[in-house]
Amino acid sequence: MTLDISAASAPTAGTTARTARPRRYVMTPPHFFAVDYVINPWMDTSSSVDVDRALSQWETLRQTYIGLGHAVELVDPVAGLPDMVYAANGGTVINGTAVVARFAHEERAGEAVAYAEWMSRNGYRPVETTHVNEGQGDFLAVGTTLLAGHGFRTDRRAHDEVAAHVGMPVVSLELTDPRFYHLDTALAVLDDATIAYYPPAFTHQSRATLAGLFPGAIEVASADAYVLGLNVVSDGLHVVLPSAATGFAEQLDAAGFRPVGVDLSELLKGGGSVKCCTLEVHP
Ligand code: ARG
Repeated sequence: MTLDISAASAPTAGTTARTARPRRYVMTPPHFFAVDYVINPWMDTSSSVDVDRALSQWETLRQTYIGLGHAVELVDPVAGLPDMVYAANGGTVINGTAVVARFAHEERAGEAVAYAEWMSRNGYRPVETTHVNEGQGDFLAVGTTLLAGHGFRTDRRAHDEVAAHVGMPVVSLELTDPRFYHLDTALAVLDDATIAYYPPAFTHQSRATLAGLFPGAIEVASADAYVLGLNVVSDGLHVVLPSAATGFAEQLDAAGFRPVGVDLSELLKGGGSVKCCTLEVHP
């Protein structure tokens, strides 16, 4: 009798075999993390922030990436820039081009200088936009296309600016719920063709656009969206996500991904989670 051993490791019917690709990430430790001002509905200046706890949760995230075989580079945090831990907002680095952020709020303007310095030190000539763009908070690459959010932070007009700088087509998506103020709070890129999103965070027109482009997308429930469960980092197989997003973790598992939960509850007080803390340097 012959045993078909390949069947034992084959993916479940209906799912695709997923593969991981090594990634390069930039992170900034939360030494100066605080909630000193309110620029999104998650922030509350009366809530106490435990910096040591934020640091240890952040360190766990960094070690998770390293354990998965990814490269993590650090940017020095700057005193007086409490949101600098949300490195994703520093810019968009893709196709050999680094577009530095232009922040909507004056409180975060100084971060652009620090991230531009990192770009310069790493062989990029940082390019600027004339309109507000909050980096990978609002610009997410799916394969060779850029998805771009607007409505709260990034200016719709910056979508075309960034697309021209990096030489990629852009799909504009409009956000409608202030809790989901950046695209990366409402939509997750899982691999070069797969996304997950929370439909109520988008206008009807943008929902139709997403449904048309990604018929196989994972739609997450409110319980997951409201713990910033979509604020994830995927290498194509492993999806590092907020541990509280248990429903989404099950959906990922069923779709052939490997969810890796991380507790970033302290950083949620600033309105960010896994993806916010991670700037991906795309090749
Ligand atoms: N407090 C920060 C802000 O409101 C959080 C940024 C979160 N970053 C992100 N990529 N969504 O700007």
